[in-house]
Amino acid sequence: MTPGVTVRTLPDTLMLAEVAADWLDSRIARRPDLTVLVATGQTPMGMYGRLAARVRASTLDCSGVTAVQLDEYAGLPDGDPRSLRDWMMRSFVTPLGIHKVVPLDDPATFTAQVEALGGLDVAILGLGPNGHLGFNEPPCGPDAPTRTVTLTPESLLSNRSYWNGLNVPMQAVTAGMDVILGARETLLLVSGAHKRGILSAALDGPETPAVPASYLRRTALTVFADREARP
Ligand code: F6R
Repeated sequence: MTPGVTVRTLPDTLMLAEVAADWLDSRIARRPDLTVLVATGQTPMGMYGRLAARVRASTLDCSGVTAVQLDEYAGLPDGDPRSLRDWMMRSFVTPLGIHKVVPLDDPATFTAQVEALGGLDVAILGLGPNGHLGFNEPPCGPDAPTRTVTLTPESLLSNRSYWNGLNVPMQAVTAGMDVILGARETLLLVSGAHKRGILSAALDGPETPAVPASYLRRTALTVFADREARP
């Protein structure tokens, strides 16, 4: 896939979810054994719900897909309700009937595991309020490896909305920028007026470690944004 950026503004989050589901659906139709890096967070949940409905209606078969975990808080005990892996399992892997999962357990072996699969076909990503991808917090260059990071105040604040009063862990393990930018295609989903400035910085500004998402323009990138994020 040749690098190139496609940006599409959708009227609302419902349309964004539908169009994003169509996008992944068409990739799985072409390649049933697709390897997909999977973001959690709020933005892709509508898309995942649409895909799950198609699987239930037997119009989509994801049984050959491999899901690769994008990030996880560090140091959580098993069964902790804040696990991003559990969120990925209940929002994406289980409802889509996916059997193969590459967890992000050990940063030292993760890249080799992804390479052994032949690399990522697709990375599904949300945009952090500070321009992070996964938990690649700024400043962060394109070669940053899979590693443990300390979360920035912006990320701690935005992640608080996920956990209903529970604390957000201060550290996380993230797939590196090297892994994310190595995907043959990247899909960035963005919604809400609070993301407008950072999306513009990522798409219209210079490539800079201050906005890790600005490096996505090196990839075959599709951006679906609602009208509030990209008027
Ligand atoms: C989640 C993740 C994060 C989010 C980003 C946007 O696995 O890696 O980078 O994608 O923080 O989050 P939402 O979609 O909740 O605004």
